Amino acid sequence: MTYARISGTGSYLPERILTNKELESTVDTTDQWIRERTGIRQRHIVADGESTCDLAERASRSALESAQKHPEDVDLIIVGTTTPDKIYPATACRLQSRLGVFGCPAFDVQAVCTGFIYALGIAEKFIQSGSAKTALVIGADTHSRLLDWTDRTTCVLFGDGAGAVVLEASDEPGIYSSHLHADGRYEPLLYVDGGVPRGKGEISEGNAYTKMRGNEVFKIAVRTLGRIVDEVLEANRMEKSDLDWLIPHQANIRIIEATARKLSMPMDRVVVTIEDQGNTSAASVPLALDVAVRDGRIKRGDKLLLEAFGGGFTWGAALVRY
Ligand code: UT7
Repeated sequence: MTYARISGTGSYLPERILTNKELESTVDTTDQWIRERTGIRQRHIVADGESTCDLAERASRSALESAQKHPEDVDLIIVGTTTPDKIYPATACRLQSRLGVFGCPAFDVQAVCTGFIYALGIAEKFIQSGSAKTALVIGADTHSRLLDWTDRTTCVLFGDGAGAVVLEASDEPGIYSSHLHADGRYEPLLYVDGGVPRGKGEISEGNAYTKMRGNEVFKIAVRTLGRIVDEVLEANRMEKSDLDWLIPHQANIRIIEATARKLSMPMDRVVVTIEDQGNTSAASVPLALDVAVRDGRIKRGDKLLLEAFGGGFTWGAALVRY
């Protein structure tokens, strides 16, 4: 059996840091409220002119270096993003060109905060089937560009960034399983209206903002992530105690704590980056993974549960032997 194994990780955060304190002077909020309700202290924001592809390229080069691979070794590129540089070509195609590799499939996956897990699950299938041997899988978002900076219920939550992994075919696990889900009926709870114009005057630039009924999303996220954790363990006939690390999507520290409780996992086995990075959408899981690999917490052979939940609704998880 062929598995997809993570052979390298990388990430990139834009230089500019926006603190809660700074937000206090622009919207009716407080550092205390943001910290207590979300766990966020600061987030990184892209510079003018900097794009999702710029972040993805930095993260990709770092992941390739850690896997000791060259761009020409890559035969599949998937970018999970909701903030592509352009409607088309795909950010993955632009990234392919930047990396100087040509011909291999390159495409974007749009599953909002679950984008990286979707991209990982798809790349896993390419590798298992023999269609690819070395895949570059990225989660990258500049979600700050989809925010109404006068709306305190959303603008305090998100940050920008990119994370990447190199996946390689291997006889040893690898990804044990990946689980992808969606339920389009929940669109009214979390969406951005802007997009391809549907008719004269219907879509204006002012509509391209994140709209969220946060409290309702929160409750469904907690329930859904609790369910998917059971699904992953059952599919692999594993116990909670078999897991070494939880690498969750970083939307809210209270959601992360609820999932950790469900897994009976102490918080020191959970990788938490939300305090410094906010919710970086598709980038949050690979960013957290890269942080914990680089600081030495995650070691080869550790069993990791990666999970995410986001707009769509979409949700997913992967059980990985690092
Ligand atoms: O990543 C994709 C998926 N997204 C998520 O999973 C996000 C899920 N939702 C959440 O994380 C939380 O629901 C939020 C952090 C968005 C909000 O926290 P909450 O505890 O659910 O607060 P709430 O929406 O029930 O609002 C409580 C109060 C309200 O005031 P009143 O009506 O009680 O007077 C809000 O107007 O907090 C107020 N509020 C704020 N106050 C200060 C909302 N945003 C702010 C703010 N600063 N930034």
